[in-house]
Amino acid sequence: MKSIYIISLALVFALLSCNNPNETKKLKLEKKQAKRPLTITPSKTIPISLNDSTTEMLLRKGRALTTKMQITFKSELLKAIQRGDMADAIGFCNEKAMMISDSASYAEQAVIRRLALKNRNPENRMNEQETRIYKDFVLSWISKTPMKPRIQLSADHHPVYYAPITMQPLCLNCHGSLEKDINPNVAAKIKELYPNDKAVDFKQVDMRGMWAITFSEYYIN
Ligand code: HEC
Repeated sequence: MKSIYIISLALVFALLSCNNPNETKKLKLEKKQAKRPLTITPSKTIPISLNDSTTEMLLRKGRALTTKMQITFKSELLKAIQRGDMADAIGFCNEKAMMISDSASYAEQAVIRRLALKNRNPENRMNEQETRIYKDFVLSWISKTPMKPRIQLSADHHPVYYAPITMQPLCLNCHGSLEKDINPNVAAKIKELYPNDKAVDFKQVDMRGMWAITFSEYYIN
């Protein structure tokens, strides 16, 4: 009796999974790709030593990636503002922004992250080393000396590009004061998606966070 039950159950599953296998496969693949952003296993890892010219090269690559991301991000935000749909742009910030970083980073075999102490997504928090680097940037910011991007090694010897992220007027729409700057619709959507949101009450002149781009294609020997 039990075996008949198991066989018929297996049959039901078999029939279900026969249901357009290509479609299921495609969906699975899309899901996998959507989840992939933060870790990339490089196909080949190139050993380098961190002399002046490689540091220069990595600083250039880092700068190019962050510039590309900022331009895309800003133009998408402006489009959302023109459509009058900032709440919709939140979806863009949490999913599409990651996708952009994903495609840009894929070309460079780099993992792009935006980190913050006061973060919206807890996955964007800083570890100890990153907090120290960020505090150095903040000190320069306060003393009005230029905040120079830098290359530092990760615990597993990959070079990481760090650069500060500062607030701009546009950012207040989602990171400013809940009373004055953020539209109630937007605030409600943020609360729904990020119940532990800490990334509000920033002012236009504040530091917001830090880029961290790990070049997984290289390791320092
Ligand atoms: C339409 C709303 C919206 C606007 C406008 C916006 N952001 Fe965000 N921001 C978000 C959301 C949502 C997240 C969380 C993304 C995620 O899940 O990783 C986020 C995350 C971040 C993070 C990563 C750290 C964290 O808090 O999780 C940084 C840094 C950041 N934003 C900076 C900015 C800057 C700088 C601007 C202005 C140029 C800006 N944002 C404008 C919605 C917005």
